[in-house]
Amino acid sequence: MSTAGKVIKCKAAVAWEPGKPLSIEDVEVSPPKANEVRIKVFATSVCYTDWEYLYESEKGKKFRPFPLVLGHEAAGIVESVGSGVTKFSPGDQVIPLFLPQCQECDRCRSPKTNHCRKNWEHMQGGVMADGTSRISCQGQQIYQFLGVSTFSQYTVVPDTSLTKIRNDAPLEKVCLLGCGVSTGYGAAMKTGKVEKDSTCAVFGLGAVGLAAVMGCKAAGARRIIGIDINPDKFGKAMTLGATECVNPDDHTKPIQEVVVELTNGGVDFALECVGYPKVMRDALESTTEAWGLCVIAGWTEAETMCVPVEKLLMGRTLTGTYFGGWKSVQDIPKLVDEYMNLNLKLDEFITHKLPLRQINDAFDLLNSGASIRTVINLW
Ligand SMILES: NC(=O)c1ccc[n+]([C@@H]2O[C@H](COP(=O)([O-])OP(=O)(O)OC[C@H]3O[C@@H](n4cnc5c(N)ncnc54)[C@H](O)[C@@H]3O)[C@@H](O)[C@H]2O)c1
Ligand SMILES: [Zn+2]
Ligand SMILES: [Zn+2]
Repeated sequence: MSTAGKVIKCKAAVAWEPGKPLSIEDVEVSPPKANEVRIKVFATSVCYTDWEYLYESEKGKKFRPFPLVLGHEAAGIVESVGSGVTKFSPGDQVIPLFLPQCQECDRCRSPKTNHCRKNWEHMQGGVMADGTSRISCQGQQIYQFLGVSTFSQYTVVPDTSLTKIRNDAPLEKVCLLGCGVSTGYGAAMKTGKVEKDSTCAVFGLGAVGLAAVMGCKAAGARRIIGIDINPDKFGKAMTLGATECVNPDDHTKPIQEVVVELTNGGVDFALECVGYPKVMRDALESTTEAWGLCVIAGWTEAETMCVPVEKLLMGRTLTGTYFGGWKSVQDIPKLVDEYMNLNLKLDEFITHKLPLRQINDAFDLLNSGASIRTVINLW
């Protein structure tokens, strides 16, 4: 029996308030309104950003309204579409996008950026274009994290925050392209434009950093130094292309001095994938004079970083990346193709698989450093 046009009752992991574990609830997901799509989410993974908004909302984060359904790294199938939707049909395999690509705004029309303006304020505020969310629980509106909310068996997203992918792609793998892997890979390939035969340093070897290592290798970097305070991450980093790994805690000197010594003056490219202002500065100071480029992928919103101006005057560049610089709707299906053609790895990032009812364990595994990505099977 078709569910189109009807409210769907299903399970979701609800964050009732910051700092408390998620609670599995029966929620109601409304039909999509105009230019919206309702999707059946098959697989979602837990990204560190989900952890940060739940457990560190007071630290460097802008306010997000609760109760909230988190989750923004997922893949699913279109269940039904609202009026005016022309690019999606029920049955399509899709990846929801926390960064839209409307293809109409001034930024979408510019090749210089992926920062689409569409629905920005609403999505940051956890609602759709009409100012309301499509998920409710016990009669109460539940906000949608980044306008997405994939810790739910069904969700509704704007049709500009969704991309169609090939129908033979395994959803339980390509869900990783909804955030972390695409971000790290793009930090190197797209934002950093890492060059052949260059030297690189990647700070932080979680999913984002490991994907940055993979991007540096794909770009032909000669030397890729993986840096993490958790040496358990080094094996995977070497598998994905690091040529050596360094633990800052093994050295008495600051890590930037260690990198500068190792490379006779600093790396060509440094990629920060941790999210701490101090590490961001360390990364910048690890780059060489004259042309060193530091790309920040790690997330913080309210904190500031301190940089000695001379480092920039001597020719270094400091920049940041949002979703790896990819124009989301057009580029993510290409990354899916790269995975299917065996040019991009995803399986190596999946260390754990859990059902929705154990989602809090996935948060613990990520925060303790025991996992890279846990894929949650929603059904
Ligand atoms: N820019 C974007 O669009 C975007 C997208 C996704 C995630 N992020 C951010 O990227 C960051 C990484 O995400 P993740 O999912 O890979 O997280 P993660 O927790 O899996 O990885 C972070 C890694 O950094 C390491 N680390 C911690 N302190 C360190 C230090 N002082 N020096 C070196 N390494 C250190 C940890 O041991 C861990 O391995 C987060 O801040 C996340 O919010 C940004
Ligand atoms: Zn993320
Ligand atoms: Zn746009």
